[in-house]
Amino acid sequence: MGVINNMKSIVFILAIVALLPFEVSSNETSHRSVLLSRLDELFVESSEQVEQLLTELYHLRQSVEHVAWLTNRVERAVQKVQLDNDVLVRNVSLLTSQTDNIILNQQYCANHEALKNLFFELTPKCLGNQTVPPIPTPSIATTTEAAEISTIPCSPDNFIVYERCTQAPPRSGVYRLRRQDGIVFSAFCEQELFGGGLLVFQSRLDGSVDFNRSWSEFVEGFGDPAGEYWLGLETLHQVAPNATDLVVAMTNFSDVEVYEQYSRVWFETERTNYRIRIGERGTGTAGDSFYIYYSEDFSTYDHFSNIAQRACITSLASGFWHHSCNTARERNNLNGIYGRGKGAKGIWWGTFGNLTAQNTSPLKSVQMMIRN
Ligand SMILES: *[C@@H]1O[C@H](CO)[C@@H](O)[C@H](O)[C@H]1NC(C)=O
Ligand SMILES: *[C@@H]1O[C@H](CO)[C@@H](O)[C@H](O)[C@H]1NC(C)=O
Ligand SMILES: *[C@@H]1O[C@H](CO)[C@@H](O)[C@H](O)[C@H]1NC(C)=O
Ligand SMILES: *[C@@H]1O[C@H](CO)[C@@H](O)[C@H](O)[C@H]1NC(C)=O
Ligand SMILES: *[C@@H]1O[C@H](CO)[C@@H](O)[C@H](O)[C@H]1NC(C)=O
Ligand SMILES: *[C@@H]1O[C@H](CO)[C@@H](O)[C@H](O)[C@H]1NC(C)=O
Ligand SMILES: *[C@@H]1O[C@H](CO)[C@@H](O)[C@H](O)[C@H]1NC(C)=O
Repeated sequence: MGVINNMKSIVFILAIVALLPFEVSSNETSHRSVLLSRLDELFVESSEQVEQLLTELYHLRQSVEHVAWLTNRVERAVQKVQLDNDVLVRNVSLLTSQTDNIILNQQYCANHEALKNLFFELTPKCLGNQTVPPIPTPSIATTTEAAEISTIPCSPDNFIVYERCTQAPPRSGVYRLRRQDGIVFSAFCEQELFGGGLLVFQSRLDGSVDFNRSWSEFVEGFGDPAGEYWLGLETLHQVAPNATDLVVAMTNFSDVEVYEQYSRVWFETERTNYRIRIGERGTGTAGDSFYIYYSEDFSTYDHFSNIAQRACITSLASGFWHHSCNTARERNNLNGIYGRGKGAKGIWWGTFGNLTAQNTSPLKSVQMMIRN
């Protein structure tokens, strides 16, 4: 307000000065001195006022500058807040998209894991040189994932436990199975030949496993289910206590494949030396060399029930459900010594090969299996 009043005074003084020439011309010089002195007074007065005015102006300018500076600062602060907000929004959207990515990844991983498990389940594990035709390799086997799976060691822990081969995946291979008493074991399931669902309890392939074993070894089992092996008499009893199918599959050294199948076969307990029971005569392409064994105890060189068995073990060099060794035919030596030229101690099937002398036609491979 003070500033505006001073401005008014200045305008008034200037107006008086402008009118002065007329005053001078119309009046005598005597008045002039009075006027001049008055003017002087006015001038000094206004000078002071101007001075004050300028000072106030200066302060005002300073204030305005300060306000401007403050405004600028506020503006910059606001800008910074906006910027931060933008960054925050961007960070939040980034975070959201990254969260989405993580969730997607997790879903992918879960699916991937499921696929891997499925692949695992459908792939025979630790496949040995079985007589079964080679299983067509799935096309994904060429990927690194499949390679990774195939290199996983054949640890029994990797396997799902099935109640029986008939419940395992439809591909031949080694599976984990459960006995009647709950004990888990590994066995080769033949899933493609002879209707599948067959538990292989004896396998001869290449002579890599010695079959000339003691009683306790035949009871416990030996060898590798992926290759040559004997499942074990106790497990055999546990998985086949009641009538089931028995299939014996064989090849000779010309790779001619034959088989013989028996119905209503089961295995008794240790109390009766895991006696085999065969309910019916065999059918198949190998000829029936086994029905005659329909009620024989298992015997080994260190565990036998009678002299006839002992004679068989000596002449055939094997533990088995030995029957009389006197007849030329209807006998076999599936647990014999692997290879050619082993004579009677070799692996042979009485009704397949040279029928005049069984021991000159050794077998290249044998699998004994029960439906389970
Ligand atoms: C000039 O001055 C005289 C007195 O000195 C006064 O009487 C007169 O009225 C003045 N003239 C004008 C035109 O004001
Ligand atoms: C946004 O994320 C970056 C890293 O990506 C971080 O350096 C910055 O501090 C974040 N900003 C805010 C406002 O959270
Ligand atoms: C077993 O398989 C290997 C590799 O596939 C082969 O080299 C070997 O000859 C096979 N053995 C028999 C007895 O078939
Ligand atoms: C089988 O093993 C027994 C006991 O070790 C031995 O006496 C016998 O000579 C072996 N038979 C053959 C053919 O190796
Ligand atoms: C086997 O037969 C016996 C009686 O004959 C029966 O108690 C048992 O449940 C049968 N086991 C199986 C697995 O079928
Ligand atoms: C395999 O069996 C076939 C058919 O009986 C026979 O012709 C062939 O000679 C046998 N091969 C051997 C090596 O015993
Ligand atoms: C069968 O065995 C007898 C006696 O060893 C032998 O004389 C005969 O040549 C054999 N036959 C064949 C086809 O191997």
